Amino acid sequence: MPKMQGKVVLITGGSLGIGQCIAKTFAKEGARVFICSRTSADVNYITKAIQEENEFCEGLSMDVTDSGQVKAWVEDIYQRLKRVDLLINCAGIYGPIGPMETLDPKEWKNTVEINLFGTVNCIRAVVPIMKKQRAGKIINFSGGGVGGVLNPNFSAYIASKAGVGAITEVLARELKDFNIQVNAIAPGAVNTRFLDRVLEAGSNPGKEFYERSLRQKEEGGTPPELAAKLALFLASEDSNFITGKIISAKWDPFHQAKEFREELEKGGLWNLRRIDRMKFYEKT
Ligand SMILES: NC(=O)c1ccc[n+]([C@@H]2O[C@H](COP(=O)([O-])OP(=O)(O)OC[C@H]3O[C@@H](n4cnc5c(N)ncnc54)[C@H](OP(=O)(O)O)[C@@H]3O)[C@@H](O)[C@H]2O)c1
Repeated sequence: MPKMQGKVVLITGGSLGIGQCIAKTFAKEGARVFICSRTSADVNYITKAIQEENEFCEGLSMDVTDSGQVKAWVEDIYQRLKRVDLLINCAGIYGPIGPMETLDPKEWKNTVEINLFGTVNCIRAVVPIMKKQRAGKIINFSGGGVGGVLNPNFSAYIASKAGVGAITEVLARELKDFNIQVNAIAPGAVNTRFLDRVLEAGSNPGKEFYERSLRQKEEGGTPPELAAKLALFLASEDSNFITGKIISAKWDPFHQAKEFREELEKGGLWNLRRIDRMKFYEKT
């Protein structure tokens, strides 16, 4: 039995890279997959490819920063399918790369508009539906080392993704009583258009990052299938006890999470936290 039979799954940025891999994976598992991104040729190409496998996929050319378009997209799907089981916020850009004072403020702001506000727009559109259903899953995308060591020269990208990490935890708490789980995936360094952007940016990413990226190009990078596997796990009922977490598709033993469930629920494991022994405050 396919794992996602009949589930209504919305994937932003589903036309390329990691989002495309997730769209194919969920369609294969029987989900009714809806994808969007700005470039209609890419959306049409992948939608048709999935349909030719006799799997369900509908695509729309749409910009996640346009809250009106996002709302209309979600409402149309809900009117026809009568439910929304899962939202995957995969749409994203690197934005400008280089020392912060050299970056164009408009491009900086646009990065936050797409990565953070785009994610917020989609969440705002699905939450009333999921609350009514008293069930739902939301998966966001982290990146840039958020939760660990932050890369210099990616200030706009990392600011936007730290925001995504923060709202993941805030929303998880807001939505806990509605049986809606919200988590974020850190997919690892995947060879997509993101890598091409770094290689085009020459010295701007910094020597070390650039050289690491060249090696990544040659060696192949983290397969996007790891993010797709984690997304399948987070979409399943097996992970209902996990919410508000940033999880690495490559490094975290998420399939064994039941073994350390208490630490996950009560501690700061897989959260945006300082991990030194000093505390901002002690709970009394
Ligand atoms: N690749 C990595 O190593 C890596 C690492 C950590 C995190 N991530 C995260 O993983 C996610 C996917 O990245 P990727 O590597 O697969 O990149 P990608 O190949 O460039 O794909 C990004 C997708 O987002 C869409 N998109 C961008 N801006 C959009 C907008 N305003 N509205 C709607 N769709 C938009 C793109 O299509 P259009 O341009 O046609 O709109 C494309 O479908 C991103 O959130 C990224 O931050 C990636």
